[in-house]
Amino acid sequence: MFAVVLVGGFGTRLRPLTEYTPKQMLPICGVPMIEWVVSHLADHGVQEVGLALGYRPDAFLNAYPNGEIAGIPYRIAVEAEALGTAGAIRFAAQEMQLEETFLVLNGDVLTDLDVSALVEFHSQHEAEATIALQTVSDPSRFGVVTTADSGQVEEFIEKPTLGKSPSNSINAGTYVINRSVVDRIPEGRPVSVERETFPEMADARTLYAMESNTYWLDTGTPEQFLQANLDVLQGRRKNRPDLPRASIQATAEVEESVIGTGSHIDAGAIVKRSVLFNDCHICHGATIIDSVLSDGVYVGEGTRLEGCVIGSNQRIEAGATLIGENKPES
Ligand code: GTP
Repeated sequence: MFAVVLVGGFGTRLRPLTEYTPKQMLPICGVPMIEWVVSHLADHGVQEVGLALGYRPDAFLNAYPNGEIAGIPYRIAVEAEALGTAGAIRFAAQEMQLEETFLVLNGDVLTDLDVSALVEFHSQHEAEATIALQTVSDPSRFGVVTTADSGQVEEFIEKPTLGKSPSNSINAGTYVINRSVVDRIPEGRPVSVERETFPEMADARTLYAMESNTYWLDTGTPEQFLQANLDVLQGRRKNRPDLPRASIQATAEVEESVIGTGSHIDAGAIVKRSVLFNDCHICHGATIIDSVLSDGVYVGEGTRLEGCVIGSNQRIEAGATLIGENKPES
């Protein structure tokens, strides 16, 4: 089956990491997020993917110039302006001339979902579209779904008020959709699949949903991005790639952290629950906790960073203390 992966968003919540790099090209334990997503699809028999691009399409084309991602051929549709999640599906289906049922994925979700079971469920229930559901403790940030015993969706409510959610089952961002769904999406303006298309289909009783409780993480915020890295490190995912090579002095203290290729951690520095991209330098006596540092960041002696997101090539001078700060790319 063909899969359209939505990767055209601006990723504003992950700035400054996404200032020049689209979210799905950020590394999770050294491997760009899009490769995690595509290789999972390949494990479920997907033979070709379509990237619905918008923000910084060149980042993908430059990284995968031979037309393959993780060994899977890809096609592209580049939106001239952001069309929203449903608008992007419509545009991609037209550009890629999709005539059959296809998969759609939010490209910023990492999951071990049984995609084959979702496709099977979709055809057994003769649904027009089927969405994967995940149970979460706080559904207020997501699209909440209630279903009948048959799996038919009764209600689809995007981001309900805190404490007023009718269920803890949320839209997990993987869908199987028939070609007829594309014709439901209005042309010529941005359309959200979560706010328009799915609620309308729920009313029309043609939308189904399959419960799944496997590894699932939306990586949209710095905390979640950090968590995605730690989950791989701590073996919560089915696969773990070779980790990047860094040079860490014997007396540096590094715990639960991913340190990118070419990064140096000097003696007496402490790095905990953090992700450092490539070519960072952490000087003697610096402490980095719960932070994400993009490529080429320099952290001077005795500096303390806690809960920070630092853009590439920033210099944090010796002795500084930064708590919960974001620093743009320099
Ligand atoms: P924020 O700006 O931080 O909200 O991030 P985002 O722009 O990625 O938005 P969101 O997390 O809601 O998007 C969910 C998925 O849809 C992500 O994989 C986005 O890349 C993708 N996406 C969102 N809007 C568009 C769009 O207009 N076009 C395309 N092609 N993809 C989109």
